[in-house]
Amino acid sequence: MNDLKKRDTKLHRVYLDNATTSFPKPESVYRVVECFMRDCGGSAGRSGHYAAIEAQRIIDDARLLCAGLLNAPSPQNIIFTPNATTAINIALKGILSTNDNVVFGSFEHNAVTRPLYSLSKCGISVTKIESDLDSGLDKEQLKNAIRSDTRLVICNHVSNVFGTENDVVGIGRICRESGVLFMVDAAQSAGVKLIDVQGMCIDLLAFSGHKSLFGLQGTGGLYVASGVQVRPLIEGGTGSAAVGVMSSDEMFEQPAKLPDKLESGTINTHGIVGLAAGLRFIFETGIDRIAAKELELVSRLVNGLQEINGIRVISPAKKFNRGSVVSFQHDSIPPDQIAAILDTGFGIAVRSGLHCAFAPHQTIGTIKSGGTVRISPNYFNNESEIDYCIDAIRKIS
Ligand code: ALA
Repeated sequence: MNDLKKRDTKLHRVYLDNATTSFPKPESVYRVVECFMRDCGGSAGRSGHYAAIEAQRIIDDARLLCAGLLNAPSPQNIIFTPNATTAINIALKGILSTNDNVVFGSFEHNAVTRPLYSLSKCGISVTKIESDLDSGLDKEQLKNAIRSDTRLVICNHVSNVFGTENDVVGIGRICRESGVLFMVDAAQSAGVKLIDVQGMCIDLLAFSGHKSLFGLQGTGGLYVASGVQVRPLIEGGTGSAAVGVMSSDEMFEQPAKLPDKLESGTINTHGIVGLAAGLRFIFETGIDRIAAKELELVSRLVNGLQEINGIRVISPAKKFNRGSVVSFQHDSIPPDQIAAILDTGFGIAVRSGLHCAFAPHQTIGTIKSGGTVRISPNYFNNESEIDYCIDAIRKIS
């Protein structure tokens, strides 16, 4: 912290790494988290005193806001998790059984490909569908890939590496018509793309709390449609046992009802209170307005980068229906060097390398050259920061 402050005095700092985690957060997020930690501090569903009741109210409120954001039928369909990776693991490992087939896209994050790789060693077959930089997952290939043993199709909404947006409406329709479950990894889209889990035929959806939802790191969640049975990955205390009402067998059993079934252990209440404030900020500001601003900045960034000699932009060639993520390479300077010079020489935070997502780089062929430099603006950035970044890259180039 002290080192950061020292550097502050020398450099203008520009944060353009929002696909990793968003910064800054809306003022209300800082305020409510501090307020909860100083003035409440209880644990939801555990005790009967005022602080526990207030913590429960906060969790219920956040669940309601998440359900509203996704158009989930009920707050009980929302499970809080430490991050989107945990949500994806809970779903994949709690749904798939031996001899099942699962279909996934070639732009998936390691949070999807790694659990699928380990499940493939346990009798579950996996089918990869190619994704295209502009149009995303190939729907014709998907239709042909779904088999009688296919249980689930999983893909991201927006690629964390290239910003490619999948047609989740079209994919959801194919899955519903084929009678297979559809799971969406919305880590990069929740809060900035309209999501309607019912209208989009989504059965399971993982979201991150600390990216476009403006919450704290250590927060995320899973939407589980009513009637979809997910075996719990973690079992334990839920605070919902009714003393004197339940038999001893029932006491030993994990609760069957959502959200308790999939939400054992103390919830990250100070994180969730921040997430609720982030969600309120989104509702007050409007997803359309947030998305429009991000896409304007992305467009300006892409246009600027394309004018620099030696730069190859590797992102969808469209202004809309894409995410706020721009990847690029330079023809002679490795991505990690560009990111390091942007950081130390210009105070600009971006991410380079493979971005925890080996598969998309493998698909596009950007592994040997060290991945890409990824710039991810959000609502709190402005045009002059984008121009400063373009100018810095021009100088480096
Ligand atoms: N998955 C996150 C990213 O894209 C961490 O950077």
